[in-house]
Amino acid sequence: MSNVVRFGLTPKMKPVSPKRSAVVAALDVGTSKIVCMIAKLQPQAPQDVLRRRSHGVRVLGFAHTAASGMKGGTVIDLAEAEAMVRTAIDIAENAAHVQLESVVVALSGGRLGSERFIANVDLTGGAVTDGEIARVLAAASRHSVRDGRAVLHSLPIGYSLDAASGIREPRGMLGHKFGVDMHMVTADVATVRNLMLTVERSHLNIEAMVASPYMAGLSVLADDEADLGAAVIDLGAGTTTAAVFSQGRFVHADGFALGGHHVTMDLARGLNTRIADAERIKAIYGSVLSGGSDERDMITVPPFGDDEREPPQFVSRAALTRIIKPRVEEILEMVRDRLAASPFAAEPRGRVVLTGGASQLTGIADLASRILKRPVRIGRPLGLSGLPESAKGPAFAVAAGLLVYPQAAHLEHFEPRRTRHLMTGNGGYMARVGRWLRESF
Ligand SMILES: Nc1ncnc2c1ncn2[C@@H]1O[C@H](COP(=O)(O)OP(=O)(O)OP(=O)(O)O)[C@@H](O)[C@H]1O
Ligand SMILES: [Mg+2]
Repeated sequence: MSNVVRFGLTPKMKPVSPKRSAVVAALDVGTSKIVCMIAKLQPQAPQDVLRRRSHGVRVLGFAHTAASGMKGGTVIDLAEAEAMVRTAIDIAENAAHVQLESVVVALSGGRLGSERFIANVDLTGGAVTDGEIARVLAAASRHSVRDGRAVLHSLPIGYSLDAASGIREPRGMLGHKFGVDMHMVTADVATVRNLMLTVERSHLNIEAMVASPYMAGLSVLADDEADLGAAVIDLGAGTTTAAVFSQGRFVHADGFALGGHHVTMDLARGLNTRIADAERIKAIYGSVLSGGSDERDMITVPPFGDDEREPPQFVSRAALTRIIKPRVEEILEMVRDRLAASPFAAEPRGRVVLTGGASQLTGIADLASRILKRPVRIGRPLGLSGLPESAKGPAFAVAAGLLVYPQAAHLEHFEPRRTRHLMTGNGGYMARVGRWLRESF
């Protein structure tokens, strides 16, 4: 195959050493909001619920601003998006008293998706050595992803020896055919490029660009949940994205461009009111619980125009629910169908954890549980100190996860030197972004 993105278009992060502290910065450029968090990572003893975390995360600076120039997780107005990113960075830098050089960036748009494949080599000496592991991983990195897609993650999730699969630690084991089961997460190149460009124009280097739902999982899942099987669904404004975890590993990602903003637009149309008023009404009264005495519980809806003679309308809360619920059902049914075609289908005991701003809709966990036929809870960032009260909710799960990611970056495998010679479907681009590309090891 020619003209393919190989080995990862996006820069790869140098993992943080388990013995060192580090300062990291997270940038979540969402469809409705931008979050920038700066934190200090400090080595810590293993914790009960979060055994895999080698570091504690202490937030030093935080910024949360409204986004513009974004649609469905994709930049649609570069100048606007850039101005918003700069504002968020400035606020966080001032709060933390640091000057940032680089950030870890989350991506929710670009139709996130997964590719799974197995790469094999013949064992020359009969037993698995470090050299054989390097050889099978090198074979895996020769895998070419679909045209027009960029690689965000490249994770070995298990090894196989002849007919035995799911081997965690193959060193010293015997066999003939040695394989590695790989999970690659990809996104549309154009979406990736333009988000990178937006951040670069704000004079920041990108440490890594990573999938939003994976980050949400890193911040909200207890280790046991990831071990027992879990799907994290991030319900954003313009996107809904999913990450599946199995036996503690991130094994699948998915995403589509529908979210809370579509609910708001339905309300604005249905109530004949402004988008900003629909947004406010949704956040205060929005619910997907039908029934009860809501038919008599009336709320005031401001008129569309600014003509003061135009009287406000009154609608019942039940009527609001009748507008909101079908769209939320549509989104959750899409999630159900996508999960049914994912490795989550093989996790009958797996739970679902909802994150993202739209997970705050009253009654959504019950509705999701009915549609997905799984136990559902709402997830909030775990194990971070110094988070302001306003940032402890599910809408900040992705940004918080970006601060945890440096501890998980060592799980990724990219061939070290080849990243300098990336090819994309758009020759020449890599020359320009070359300065972002750093060797992983
Ligand atoms: N209290 C609430 N009740 C219902 N919906 C809410 C509430 N608060 C926020 N939302 C909705 O959450 C959505 C924003 O979620 P979030 O901040 O996770 O999105 P984003 O990160 O900007 O977008 P995306 O991830 O899709 O790019 C908006 O549609 C907003 O209306
Ligand atoms: Mg988001």
